[in-house]
Amino acid sequence: MKEMKWAGNTMPESDDRWLSVMSEENVKQAKAFHMGFPQYSVTPLASLGGLAEEIGVGGVYVKDESYRFGLNAFKVLGGAFAMAKYIAGEMKKDISDMTYDYLTSPEFEKDFGHATFFTATDGNHGRGVAWAANKLHQKAVVHMPKGSTKFRFDNIAKEGADVTIEELNYDDCVRLAAKEASETEHGVIVQDTAWEGYEEIPSWIMEGYGTMSKEAAEQLSDAGVKKPTHIFVQAGVGSLAASVVGYFSNLYKDDPPKFIICEADAAACIYKGAVLGTGEEQVVGGDLQTIMAGLACGEPNTIGWDILRNHADYFLSCPDWMSARGMRILSAPVKGDTRVISGESGAIGVGALVSIMKNEEYKELREKLGLDSRSQVLCFSTEGDTDPERYRAITWEGAWPSGEQK
Ligand SMILES: Cc1ncc(COP(=O)(O)O)c(C=O)c1O
Repeated sequence: MKEMKWAGNTMPESDDRWLSVMSEENVKQAKAFHMGFPQYSVTPLASLGGLAEEIGVGGVYVKDESYRFGLNAFKVLGGAFAMAKYIAGEMKKDISDMTYDYLTSPEFEKDFGHATFFTATDGNHGRGVAWAANKLHQKAVVHMPKGSTKFRFDNIAKEGADVTIEELNYDDCVRLAAKEASETEHGVIVQDTAWEGYEEIPSWIMEGYGTMSKEAAEQLSDAGVKKPTHIFVQAGVGSLAASVVGYFSNLYKDDPPKFIICEADAAACIYKGAVLGTGEEQVVGGDLQTIMAGLACGEPNTIGWDILRNHADYFLSCPDWMSARGMRILSAPVKGDTRVISGESGAIGVGALVSIMKNEEYKELREKLGLDSRSQVLCFSTEGDTDPERYRAITWEGAWPSGEQK
């Protein structure tokens, strides 16, 4: 069996200057912005009591982002909010003036004119940017890495974006998009990762993702759960993970939940940094072959990494079968539980949780995490079946069987 690897956090802390990005105030603004969209509704938080009993924890809650804005993934929350913040800055206005009604009005078109938003994507982020650009009558240019599926390409092209699949991996597509933006009049890169000197837009993207965490915190409270004890969140570049970890660290300052970061083993750059243990970020290169397309990123978001090194507890490097297992479990729930349609990058949290609870080889980790019948576990299913063909291959035909040696 191909094993999951894991590492605890023994890294020295930094000055933690990025944690404030995920303040309640910033996330409130993002949520207010999103709530102005006619497509907005709170995505469901599935309470999987049957699964919790089956694996021996007190509760399992799964935030189901397949319902987000009809786009089958959470990502649009970040791109749309960052675009609005950018436009507000250019127009010297406040974000609270950037309502959906204004941004989609002829008046706005007259006041602002046109910008071109560049980005690189495995699919979900680019679709969000293309969708928002379309709604706001702006231009979008989207580059996808080698191996991207036609279905995901078509979903972006449908929004009117200028989209290509390149012979490059994700990180090199980011560099291409940045270069093109810098050479284009009124061009701006809206990338869901940060690097030295490119921090403002990614921090807005992380704030935008915060809407999902804020909704989840409110839904848990409504369900009578004062605080989740454990949060599993997946990472590609780590913007999402840092957004979640940052938000909940601020919310429960004195007694935060345990944060467990799940990566695809082919692209486990954050895990690699945790293993090194010095606090320096690490990079993974090459083709990054994994079914978890949204997690196939080898270079961490610099500001996200800073939040994670200070606040995350455990880092998991997960084989593909573990996410396929999560997809099947969510697709065929214990009787009485709600079904969650969860894609490859969405289901790894549940796949890892179940594996940690059920597989004896992870007993030590289970104990270190303190996962037991009192635990209230929150996971994020960040996408639905964004690759429907593979979704069926896995859930119907049993592709990537549990424990597979691949
Ligand atoms: C569905 C899904 N989940 C999780 C992630 C990971 O987010 P991040 O790259 O911010 O770590 C992505 C990124 O594209 C994604 O598409």
